[in-house]
Amino acid sequence: MNILVLTGSPRKNGTSNLLLENFLNGIDKEKNNIKRYDAAFLKIDGCSACYGCESGKCIKKDDMQDIYNDLQNADMLIFATPIYYYNFSAQLKNVIDRFYAIDEELHTKKEVILLATAYNDEERVTMPIQVELEAICDYFGWKIKGTIYALGCGEVEDIKNSKYLKEAYKLGKNI
Ligand SMILES: Cc1cc2nc3c(=O)[nH]c(=O)nc-3n(C[C@H](O)[C@H](O)[C@H](O)COP(=O)(O)O)c2cc1C
Repeated sequence: MNILVLTGSPRKNGTSNLLLENFLNGIDKEKNNIKRYDAAFLKIDGCSACYGCESGKCIKKDDMQDIYNDLQNADMLIFATPIYYYNFSAQLKNVIDRFYAIDEELHTKKEVILLATAYNDEERVTMPIQVELEAICDYFGWKIKGTIYALGCGEVEDIKNSKYLKEAYKLGKNI
């Protein structure tokens, strides 16, 4: 299976990275081909709505060009992000908005996993990102295979002392 990992944190060794690493440790590397892009460390502009993509491809010459091919070929998408104001981080949302250039090609069978971390532990923290994820997956016809919302995990020490790292490993094992 081709697995495309898209991350949204600007903290290289932050909580969502640790959650993701545990998830990836669970995955059988022999059976799966994993490609990872860390949006915060790439040059990926927001969509300019120039509609240049009506010509067939996005005309912006930035790092998103590397992602398009893997995105089309992915059987599974993994989003790993800190929750920023109840949603994906802007870095990751930029990548998602740029899906627009190949929108038609993305209405194919894919599975999706969301790994998200947040400081607060109230349930409402996850409501907007859940709705957004469901809407995007419904639109493209993608199946949500799993979600982990690591609440109360604002810092690495918090998530190390939580149940979520084990959960992420298990989820990785089960794909
Ligand atoms: C700009 C910004 C917005 C944030 N918004 C929220 C929020 O809405 N709810 C919340 O619980 N935590 C919020 N946080 C905290 C992060 O989600 C939390 O620290 C997370 O663990 C960071 O993940 P990372 O270490 O992978 O970057 C915010 C942090 C930042 C910097």
